[in-house]
Amino acid sequence: MKIIPCPSSPLLARRIAETAGLEMGNVTFKKFPDGELYVRVEDLDEGIIVGSIRSNDDIIAIALLLDAVERAKVVVPYMGYARQDRAFNEGEAVSIRAVAEILERKAEEVITVNIHSKQAASHFKKLRDLDAMPSIGEHFADREIIMISPDKGSRERVKIAAEHANCDWDYMEKRRIDATTVEITPKSLDVENRDVVIVDDIISTGGTMVEATKKLYELGARSVSAACVHAVLADYAAIKLFNSGIKDILATDTIECAFSRISVAELIADNI
Ligand code: R5P
Repeated sequence: MKIIPCPSSPLLARRIAETAGLEMGNVTFKKFPDGELYVRVEDLDEGIIVGSIRSNDDIIAIALLLDAVERAKVVVPYMGYARQDRAFNEGEAVSIRAVAEILERKAEEVITVNIHSKQAASHFKKLRDLDAMPSIGEHFADREIIMISPDKGSRERVKIAAEHANCDWDYMEKRRIDATTVEITPKSLDVENRDVVIVDDIISTGGTMVEATKKLYELGARSVSAACVHAVLADYAAIKLFNSGIKDILATDTIECAFSRISVAELIADNI
């Protein structure tokens, strides 16, 4: 059993191999002049494919590798397309269902980290969804901080991170004042003169983080930082975050980028 890296996750694949004591498979990727992808895997009838899905090419890379390898598991650390987990309007594709079909047609098991929602997970039959919140919490262990979930939906996740960090935690609550005014405030804790870390599963456009940051500074926070599992950081999000006064962005390596300072390699290696 070898680890087969995809172009989207070369470093994480190597870290998983080292942690699990497995070898790396020898794989070649090429692009034809017309843009089509070519893959070749040497001597492999059994392997674990590791590749996040951030682009359409990432899906094709996994599909081709699944075809090339006799028996395979797939690790998709960041499962893109998971936010379209239902048809919000008539006639829309349920994108994650289509992706699930591609992955599960051949894979013996699909492993991911903090998939967007239970609804997204429900479209898979062989999915294991791992939780990186304990790793994020451990990174902040015993620091004098307060962790904040930017919305009610993420509060269970943040609670887990805070338990591992051994720190206070709270969540932002939206309260409608009148037809045109919505107030966003921490549910119960005072953030004045506190160092706050906003924790979320994903930073995509950064809009959620920016709104929460503005509010926390208005309420007297001393500093605000952002931590997430998946640093998608679309649409110049990192610039927007820093412009809003965020001191630091910390992410895992489910998406490999400059902010990936926590690795999910051990979490995945323990589960393959
Ligand atoms: C929402 O369900 C998620 O937990 C994130 O808060 C959201 O996806 C972040 O998106 P954005 O960075 O575009 O505000």
